[in-house]
Amino acid sequence: MNSDTGYVWWKHGVMCEIWPRSYYDTNSDGSGDLKGITAKLDYLADLGIDGIWLGPINASPMVDSGYDVADYRTIHPIYGSMQDFEDLLCEAHKRSIHIIMDLVVNHTSDQHAWFKESRSSRNNPRRDWYIWHDSKGGGPPTNWKALVGGSTWEWDRATRQYFLHSFLKTQPDLNWRNTAVRKEIYDTMRFWLDKGIDGFRCDILNYFLKDEQLRNNPFSLSAGPFNGFQKHLYTRNQPGMYDILKEMRAVLDEYQDRMMVGEVYVAEEGPSMAAAYLGDEGELSHLSFEFSLVFCKWGAHRFSDALMNWYSLIPPKAWPCNVLSNHDRPRAATRYAAGEDTVKRMKVLAAMLLTVWGTPFMYYGEEIGMPNSRITRKDVMDTVGKMYWPIVKGRDGERNPMQWNDGPHAGFSEARPWLPLNDDYSETNVDIQMNQPTSLLNFYRRLIALRREKPALYMGSFEKSPSHSDIISYCRTYHTEQAYAVLNFSDNRLAHTCTPDGDWTVLLGTHRSAGAAVGRGSFEVYPYEVLILERSK
Ligand code: GLC
Repeated sequence: MNSDTGYVWWKHGVMCEIWPRSYYDTNSDGSGDLKGITAKLDYLADLGIDGIWLGPINASPMVDSGYDVADYRTIHPIYGSMQDFEDLLCEAHKRSIHIIMDLVVNHTSDQHAWFKESRSSRNNPRRDWYIWHDSKGGGPPTNWKALVGGSTWEWDRATRQYFLHSFLKTQPDLNWRNTAVRKEIYDTMRFWLDKGIDGFRCDILNYFLKDEQLRNNPFSLSAGPFNGFQKHLYTRNQPGMYDILKEMRAVLDEYQDRMMVGEVYVAEEGPSMAAAYLGDEGELSHLSFEFSLVFCKWGAHRFSDALMNWYSLIPPKAWPCNVLSNHDRPRAATRYAAGEDTVKRMKVLAAMLLTVWGTPFMYYGEEIGMPNSRITRKDVMDTVGKMYWPIVKGRDGERNPMQWNDGPHAGFSEARPWLPLNDDYSETNVDIQMNQPTSLLNFYRRLIALRREKPALYMGSFEKSPSHSDIISYCRTYHTEQAYAVLNFSDNRLAHTCTPDGDWTVLLGTHRSAGAAVGRGSFEVYPYEVLILERSK
């Protein structure tokens, strides 16, 4: 924290998730690498971000794109070396950019030495590092379903027991009830914190514990296919998580200014569960991802309801974060594509993400309105896509190579990229947008700079204002400073009256110049207009 201004990087700053394999390739193998991210730090600093969340970079057989870790303390060679990582960290810090690493410790890869030992015999000292059980009535011990479908239990022929996996069967779950496992994970956290990293994004944090009594999950139609049509009563959010979170937090608190953000994967439990992981006093995870915005259909009232519901659940001393896209869901520019209006929609969303209450997490390429790539059967890398094609095509589309320019391979690599580029890269790319004053990229840059300048926008109170149902409007107040946003999510002209009443001046907008006055009383808002106003002095 900067003690002069009260600026806390993970609360008030802007974070950007980067998928390392798709950012920038410096060794011409078609895959992005750590040196590539270092090479683009000036771009990221110019964009104005405060932190990078790096997708997983540890050694891994890549069956789940690195979310299957084979060694927590080494870097996968595809990304480079430990030295490359340390260089990235050092260069990022020079530019006041923080580094958040993915911590994937609900499970390991089945290629991790721990699991190899664990499955080698029932008497192995590491047997209990994973969750092993005898069969029940000739079948699996419970009816529990994995997140990708099928049973969570996999039979091990050699040792004649089942092991548990919440995700793929090549990702056995660690036994978090074993204190030696916990100690090892906490030491691994220290290993990276000692190197100077600034935080962790904790993968499927709410899955760490499972019911010890092995009770069956009840059937639930509304839970849908990805929850195996069951209510995950006994496989996530189990009692005991509180202690684990406290322990993880204590590790982070041994250091200064570090943080964690949890991926709290919920279905029918709803956002209240994500909020619970923050703790009543904000004493648990610093931030929790909540995915209502990612699942919202287009519409001001929908986004507004999702946000207001999320805010109402945040414990008094805790802090929300907001996200529109990530590596598991189609990009916003694809989800909300509307032909010629797509970029206008992306500007409205950008303004919302960057001026509402909470830490914004962007997804790389979001700032240029990058859509998903089109993936055909032969391109599929994601195991989920391989398993369920064509019903579920996997997550490769949103993990696509960054579009830097209109040159060969979009300037991402000199070689053929590991995943297909989007056809639109000759028009949608960083180089072109950098030179267009009204581009989405320049809009993001101006918004982030404005946010940085105005405490009302990054730490002010948040009050929603009355508006037409196609508009979201809200006021942010910090001491005497007041900012006011009017975001028209529709392609219609709509009447709006600023509340609280007063004289307002444009700070930033899509249709009016900075400094223009917006009168008292009703005025017309243009289709997809973004207006960020300031109370006139
Ligand atoms: C998380 C990750 C996802 C991964 C899964 C299993 O949901 O975001 O990409 O496949 O966990 O680790």
